[in-house]
Amino acid sequence: MTHKEAETRHAELAEQVRAHDYAYYVLANPTISDQDYDRLYRELADLEQKFPGLITVESPTQTVGGAPLTEFRPVQHLTPMRSLDNTYSQAEVREFVDRVQRLLPGEPLEWIVEPKVDGIAINLRYEKGVLIIGATRGDGTTGDDITANLKTLRSIPRKLKSHDVSLELKPAETPRLPGLLGTIPDVMEVRGEVFLTRAGFAKLNAERKKVGEETFANPRNAAAGSLKQLDSSIVAKRPLDLVIYGLGFVEGLDGESPQRHDAVLNWLKSLGFKTPEKTWHCRSVEELIAAIAELDELRSQFVYETDGAVIKLNSYALREKAGFTSKAPRWAIAYKYAAEQAETKLEGITIQVGRTGALTPVAELTPVFLAGSTISRATLHNAEELRRKDIRIGDIVTIEKAGEVIPAVIGVVLTRRTGNESVFEFPKTCPECAGPIARSVGTSAENAGVVWRCTNPDCPAQVRGRIEHWCSRGAVDVEGGGEVLASQLVKHGLVRDVSDLYTLTFDSIARLDRMGEKSARNFLKGVEASKTRELWRLIFGLGIWHVGAGVAKLLARSFASLDDLQRASLEQLTEIDDVGGVIAKSLVDWFGEERNQQLIERLRAAGLNFQSALYDPKAALRSFSGKTFVLTGTLPTLKREEAASKIETLGGKVSSSVSKNTDYVIAGEEAGSKLEKAQKLGVRILDEDGFLKLCGGGGGIET
Ligand code: IVH
Repeated sequence: MTHKEAETRHAELAEQVRAHDYAYYVLANPTISDQDYDRLYRELADLEQKFPGLITVESPTQTVGGAPLTEFRPVQHLTPMRSLDNTYSQAEVREFVDRVQRLLPGEPLEWIVEPKVDGIAINLRYEKGVLIIGATRGDGTTGDDITANLKTLRSIPRKLKSHDVSLELKPAETPRLPGLLGTIPDVMEVRGEVFLTRAGFAKLNAERKKVGEETFANPRNAAAGSLKQLDSSIVAKRPLDLVIYGLGFVEGLDGESPQRHDAVLNWLKSLGFKTPEKTWHCRSVEELIAAIAELDELRSQFVYETDGAVIKLNSYALREKAGFTSKAPRWAIAYKYAAEQAETKLEGITIQVGRTGALTPVAELTPVFLAGSTISRATLHNAEELRRKDIRIGDIVTIEKAGEVIPAVIGVVLTRRTGNESVFEFPKTCPECAGPIARSVGTSAENAGVVWRCTNPDCPAQVRGRIEHWCSRGAVDVEGGGEVLASQLVKHGLVRDVSDLYTLTFDSIARLDRMGEKSARNFLKGVEASKTRELWRLIFGLGIWHVGAGVAKLLARSFASLDDLQRASLEQLTEIDDVGGVIAKSLVDWFGEERNQQLIERLRAAGLNFQSALYDPKAALRSFSGKTFVLTGTLPTLKREEAASKIETLGGKVSSSVSKNTDYVIAGEEAGSKLEKAQKLGVRILDEDGFLKLCGGGGGIET
């Protein structure tokens, strides 16, 4: 075969395989037998092996990428991926419609209702019809580049169909935008949800169980876990699929523009995407409520799990007028179906000790199938809840599961009580370390004061939890440092706090159970790699109460280094937007403890990155804007002009007299009446030291 002949044959075969992939994976309507398909596919693959020059990114053979990645590259979406606000009742749907109508007075409103697929949101970017990047939602602006993983999904077109497929559409779907059908824009983002079918999930879990691997709690977790794999050959084995429900950025449509959502869905379908299998077109609240009810009836038959209905305005022009809040569009909303409930027997109660020492009673249940997965454990929240609901061992209890929320016991079926049930005795000491426990404030408003905590900071359960949290992907991300390893490291006394991870040697860990040489080396590599993580990950990883990933990012934006954060005062911390008194106090308390200071020194000695790449001096600057300062007395080192200049560079104002509008008085020696007045008015007073702390580490700020 000459190269020219090979090229022609390759093009033919690629087109045929692509068409059959579409028929099989998107339309679920194959037109040839599996054998015939395999024959075509093999011929294509053989040809590419003989003539590797013919392989292109869009070839249907290129489903599994090359070598496993070491990490996912961040990618910025061309337009942000927003979330949806939730509603839970008909009344709230009504309120939503009224709200939109108020934003669009006099406009007739048409809605589209779609299933809310319970999977993982993704963004696909096509340029000139070729898939360039596939990414997770991430924080809405930037996601992980998971192109290699997404390319393993046969229902994601690598190349968009450009021929007119209107003939394939049923008459009822006659497009309202014939101009767009088959049109391929220069750049386009499409958004959808990747999911694992219920059947695929059951099969995957059965296989994992057989080989002793941990099973996934539900299809959504399994889909998330699959997309997080760095090795796309593993992803290729997972039965993932997707639904595309909308557009992101679009450019280069030759004068046409998307005008209605229903037409856009038809257009997306014409390009080869799998779109929602059923949608409803509604013109009133009544029609919306009927559609929501109908979807509820149907959804158990869908191959994916749905946790609600999404209501969207059909007209793009009206969407634009309605606009967005910071988080979600004003023109769409999710209606969440009530959590599913089941009844089962409470066989026993165990106590779990978390990383903050909290003792959580856990219900051990007769396994029961609920909302797509088998539940054998559920949370009982805390001792108080147990007492209040009078839950006894042997009771038939009602459990509930809503979406991603952990299943919970919500009550006892009293009519089924026999009298043979027994009251659970809440332990008087920590079941993990036998250490003392104390009632303490909870970490959230709901459980303030009702949580029993183990007060021994060296309690193995807490240490284990802290290690696991540090290693988790959302925090410092130490590859291989999961639950099992954390527990072994603690059990064998190899690790007492997270800094000990950095002193582990091959010899010390290779002896652990089930630790092969390769895993040991990989883990040590993971530990080494974790030294250069961004500062916010480290801050989050420390597990300080009330400091989640979001707060950690805010802190890393406001402080140049961990040292600056450590030195920060309560006042300085509360100056940061969205950091309230509770968070600030928690930080100051944590950094004030000697063992934590020692921990930080050990992390420093291990060579961890303490500098913040997110640090934005302007973010710190903004903290002074609109604030008024009064200087009085003689400061120990700063001249008055220096202090004034610092305040002004940071966006503040210097005033000569104290009033109730004064935010701070900076007082030095021999401060007189101004200080007195400030004291009387309750104005915040700082000495030079406090003032310098407030200025925020000084990084990058000129005086
Ligand atoms: S539209 C700006 N449509 O639900 C509008 N979202 O809770 C963005 N989801 O982040 C979303 N099915 O991941 C839309 N038919 C559907 C959906 C859907 C599932 C997910 C999506 C979104 C989340 C919001």
